[in-house]
Amino acid sequence: MYRTHTCGELRIEHVGQRVSLSGWVQKGRDLGGMTFVDLRDRYGITQLAFNEEWNTSLLADARKLGREFVIAIEGEVIERSSKNKQIPTGEVEIKVDKLSVLNSSALPPFTIEDETDGGEELRMKYRYLDIRRKPVRDNLLLRSKVNLEVRKYLTDLGFVDVETPFLIKSTPEGARDFVVPSRMHNGEFYALPQSPQTFKQLLMIGGMDKYFQIVKCFRDEDLRADRQPEFTQIDCEMAFVEQEDILQTFEGLLKHLLKEVKGVEVGDIPRMTYDEAMEKYGNDKPDIRFGMEFLNMNSLVKDKGFKVFDAAESVLAINVPGCATYTRKQLDALTNWVRRPQIGMQGLVYCKYNEDGSTKSSIDKFYNEEQRVEWMKAAGAEKGDLLLILAGEDKITRKAMSELRLYMGETLGLRNPEVFAPLWVLDFPLLEWDEETERYHAMHHPFTSPKPEDLAKIDSDPGNVKANAYDLVMNGNEIGGGSIRIHDRDLQKRMFNLLGFSDEEAQKQFGFLMSAFEYGAPPHGGVAFGFDRLVALLGGDEVIRDYIAFPKNNAGRDVMIDSPATISGEQLTELSLAVTEA
Ligand code: AMO
Repeated sequence: MYRTHTCGELRIEHVGQRVSLSGWVQKGRDLGGMTFVDLRDRYGITQLAFNEEWNTSLLADARKLGREFVIAIEGEVIERSSKNKQIPTGEVEIKVDKLSVLNSSALPPFTIEDETDGGEELRMKYRYLDIRRKPVRDNLLLRSKVNLEVRKYLTDLGFVDVETPFLIKSTPEGARDFVVPSRMHNGEFYALPQSPQTFKQLLMIGGMDKYFQIVKCFRDEDLRADRQPEFTQIDCEMAFVEQEDILQTFEGLLKHLLKEVKGVEVGDIPRMTYDEAMEKYGNDKPDIRFGMEFLNMNSLVKDKGFKVFDAAESVLAINVPGCATYTRKQLDALTNWVRRPQIGMQGLVYCKYNEDGSTKSSIDKFYNEEQRVEWMKAAGAEKGDLLLILAGEDKITRKAMSELRLYMGETLGLRNPEVFAPLWVLDFPLLEWDEETERYHAMHHPFTSPKPEDLAKIDSDPGNVKANAYDLVMNGNEIGGGSIRIHDRDLQKRMFNLLGFSDEEAQKQFGFLMSAFEYGAPPHGGVAFGFDRLVALLGGDEVIRDYIAFPKNNAGRDVMIDSPATISGEQLTELSLAVTEA
């Protein structure tokens, strides 16, 4: 028998028992007449003891063990003389009397311990070794636990897990498609789904009523810490529901996960409209773990002789608590920070609300004490606070201020990853104007229903039509998004036209859905969560790569299997992709 127990299991109450264990040699400590070996498996580490007084040849064998050798041992659990309080098995060790080497190992390219000397690229190349490390392993265990809890919650509510195909036709979620050439149909391609959007809607038409799937999605877009080209969604759809039903159901899911996985109870999830989020935070996924809401200072500062503010479309401020003591150097550093090309502002204006009630700003020449105190009142500032002010074109200034707010939140330690602050953002605009192509795009996707009360504006003022669309945001991250869908054929057709599709194009790309709408489509709506993002946040992180067993690197490569890769000329020919010489 390879093992009677795992390497994370034995405690003081097991002393005296005979056990067998199997695992990997994490490291050995040779103390002359004695050798200790740390044996690791996915459950933990157990110390093995070898002593020349017990068995000299076994001690010699133990000394020959290298890092990451796979071994099986038998022996007796004994109490340790010097205990290790850091690990759960630290009170005992095994007095080994039988040792077999199941496999040797080459010297690993980095140390397989909690703290490793391996850089990111190396760890990715040898990901299977990285997975032996506790921090990576724990992330995968967390992912599995969240997956299970999602299934429990949704299954209890009567949701049905239905698989949808991967070899499909383009779905318009806003990114580029990954395509797969068809061998049997020369010159034709499948597209991998950016999401199962149209299929889940067809399932509603098929009467499935409550659907979910934990499913891979594929998007060929630029990568970021919270984006992978293939990622996982918790994809859900419900029929005969209104927006409120969906918000309640999936608010319940997030609460269930926070409770079961983190032991955290959150109350009702607050809600905010998109307009309000942009107004107060300059961002449609605000981090509400801290305040520092924007103050629009236009009416307070304009026409007082300060040209920069007079010329600006928007003068915005945030009140940073307790920072009136910032030195010249600190303020200069902040100014340089907003001047970086990524932020793109010309400069930063500050105003300190000193402890003695006086104020001091970088533009005292233009604004007197009374006016500055008025700003402080408008910002709800207290003595000791610091007002940071940016001015310029509204959209750019709002974005820059949003970044500055997050930066200050981070600097002041207000973005604690163990605090969870979810938020629903509602009433997104239906459409978004794209300067480059000079036409409207669907802000969510083309199947999203406009708010019924805004339908009249759809031709006359499309930019101001709001959608029955919502995002679930947590700690400044978009963890999910969804909408009530259009289920009326004519409205869907109008929507395609508005997005610049001719009737023929719409028919060609989405004829299947339009036809389905002719056969009794029920009212329906749904949501999809970014599973990787959700798991990462529950793990106190924002980098999703660390929560995926075999992720792609920043350049979209899998450096372990070395993909993407070229394929053989034969394969190319078979797929009709071979370039023929002219
Ligand atoms: P959306 O495009 O908003 O909606 O995607 C849903 C959620 O998926 C996550 N996400 C990603 N995670 C990692 N890497 C990516 N490249 C990536 N792209 C998106 C985000 C996002 O909130 N079909 C609709 C849902 C619906 O309407 O029901 C959809 O896919 O967390």
